[in-house]
Amino acid sequence: MTPKSPNILLLGAPGVGKGTQAKLIEAELNYARLDTGSLIRSAIAQKTELGLKAEAYVKEGMLVPDELIIGFVLAELLRLKETGKPFLLDGFPRNLAQAEALNRMLEEQSLSLDWVLEIEVDTGKLTDRIIGRRLCSDKACGTVYHLKYSPPKQEGVCDRCGSLLFQRDDDKSDVVSKRLDSYKHETMPLIDYYLKQAKLQKIDGDQSPQEVFAEIRDKLSSL
Ligand code: AP5
Repeated sequence: MTPKSPNILLLGAPGVGKGTQAKLIEAELNYARLDTGSLIRSAIAQKTELGLKAEAYVKEGMLVPDELIIGFVLAELLRLKETGKPFLLDGFPRNLAQAEALNRMLEEQSLSLDWVLEIEVDTGKLTDRIIGRRLCSDKACGTVYHLKYSPPKQEGVCDRCGSLLFQRDDDKSDVVSKRLDSYKHETMPLIDYYLKQAKLQKIDGDQSPQEVFAEIRDKLSSL
């Protein structure tokens, strides 16, 4: 990718593969990635002020309140800007108020969001994807597995670094339905919002991760 690569947002329901694709885009296309879910989980683990306030919301499958998240994202956006790379947003914005706040932040920083890639997967397949997800407990590694679709060679152990794998607290079935509900009511209106701005591009997420990535890469080079 050239330095003129577009700034992008990955949009899609929990489990469609945003995190999987975001890591590929960062590594293969040299993007700077902002992943609010991971940042919040890391704040919770470190018991920072944000983490302590956010924990109960995440555990319940609810969005963390805008007043906690927007200022935090602004600081992260400045960090992305300093890299000089195109940026990739995964997990922000997640409602219309956050989208409007993002517009203001970008304008103040003379930046723009160029394209929104909506990854689509049948809703019926999402619960299975989320409940089967396992993650490497070493934060620097953070490899994502799936018990059926991309299992580790040895059960419970990361192929790459040998650390133990774990399941996210909010990946348990009772929380997953609340997260899918929150997506439907709070985040889905963004599809129409970005469609009206002629920024929305749809990506078929119901293919292998490498095929999804190839579709994204081809789309980005054709835009
Ligand atoms: P966040 O971490 O952003 O979670 P999410 O959006 O619910 O998305 P997921 O991480 O569940 O799924 P994904 O699409 O990244 O899928 P993945 O690639 O891992 O947010 C968590 C929480 O933080 C929120 O509920 C909220 O409380 C809070 N939060 C975050 N941002 C916020 C904000 N802006 N405002 C307020 N609150 C916020 O893949 C899933 C599984 O499927 C994996 O096992 C993977 O291996 C597998 N898989 C991936 N691709 C494929 C494929 N093509 N085929 C088969 N399997 C696949």
